[in-house]
Amino acid sequence: MAALKVSGTIRVPGDKSISHRSLILASLGEGESRIGGILDSEDVRSTAEVLRTLGAAIPPLSNQMAVKGAGLRGLRQPRRSLDCGNSGTTTRLIAGVVAAHPFSARFEGDASLSRRPMKRIAEPLTYMGAQFDFEHGDGLPMTIHGVDLRSIDWDTRASSAQVKSAILLAGLTAAVEVRVTEKTRSRDHTERMLRAMGADVESDGNQVCLRPTHRLNAIEIEVPADPSSAAFFVALASLASEGELTLSDVCLNPTRTGFLEAMTRMGANVERTVTANSGGEEIGSLRIRPAQLSGTRINEVEVPALIDELPLLACVAAGAGIDLEITGAAELRVKESDRINTVVQNLRAVGADAEELPDGLRVRPSRRALSGTIDPRGDHRIAMAFGILSSASGNKITVMNPECVAVSYPGFWEDLRRVTS
Ligand code: S3P
Repeated sequence: MAALKVSGTIRVPGDKSISHRSLILASLGEGESRIGGILDSEDVRSTAEVLRTLGAAIPPLSNQMAVKGAGLRGLRQPRRSLDCGNSGTTTRLIAGVVAAHPFSARFEGDASLSRRPMKRIAEPLTYMGAQFDFEHGDGLPMTIHGVDLRSIDWDTRASSAQVKSAILLAGLTAAVEVRVTEKTRSRDHTERMLRAMGADVESDGNQVCLRPTHRLNAIEIEVPADPSSAAFFVALASLASEGELTLSDVCLNPTRTGFLEAMTRMGANVERTVTANSGGEEIGSLRIRPAQLSGTRINEVEVPALIDELPLLACVAAGAGIDLEITGAAELRVKESDRINTVVQNLRAVGADAEELPDGLRVRPSRRALSGTIDPRGDHRIAMAFGILSSASGNKITVMNPECVAVSYPGFWEDLRRVTS
């Protein structure tokens, strides 16, 4: 592998999951919420615009913004379709809110989002009383007819923070009790933020219960740096041969640190220091130095805490020339692209030894120097994962359509250049 030197400190942009939730919950709160450090990316802009179309007073995204809440059920019938762009979180979370409002709304999205399954939220929300009309299959466009919802005790049979959050937000907006049980606990930002805003939420292992809530207080929150964006630089510094990187202000919520745990197990040199707590979230800094990595296996239990980082982990394995086996991750097939197929095809295109499994993938050490062109199929996380692999292999990999990173991390290429030059 070519010698790569890294140096510097990066504060990656605000957490995407927390940014979406802060806008949605601030809109449902009483009075003025203050949000600092929100992620300004295409996905979060989609949430802001959809909320505006529903009558919420969302100003342009900025580093310090104030949002006046409309209160629970204060949104109004939209005059046009809700354009969710590329964002599954926007669609599924706002679907929960709309289901409890006395009007109908049509959700639409780009080609990638339109292929993603919505039955997983339609099922519980229909059980609660809402009505769903799909124009084809169970993807977008879909129209939700909201009503007075009834309470629910739902076993998701899987782990999905978007499904869990859709049910919690429906229960919140309808002021009914909801209980959700997951196979493995998914990211819990909705629960934490609801609690910080005064809602009666109880978490017990893989189960969460929201009791009838009649008002939500405003919130003051500093959005921490996104651990999924930080992961790219953890990978980069681990694959480097010299130097070190510091990542500040990173959200260290344990439902999001699966990548750090996996990398540590693989021999990565990552030092964590907890520095603060904001909006119910633990925050800290990471110092990463190059390391000799070894292979690992990731299974179903571990998957939810690093679901979005699995394409990157596959690139780390290819870059380090080590074995990796991921199973229990069939969910990857219904993300912004079929991430199992997209990663494996692209790894092969640059000369790595990778194969698809029905619910995951396998990477084996390859002696070939990695080079060539990859097509991320418009998927931001695939583009960034291969951007890291490219830097680690002497920049012999070209990423097509690199601007697709704007979905979650518009300044990614600039930050990558800054710490590697
Ligand atoms: C998210 C939940 C996860 C994750 C996505 C963001 C969220 O999706 O992959 O990037 O903010 O709730 P699923 O709920 O489909 O697992």
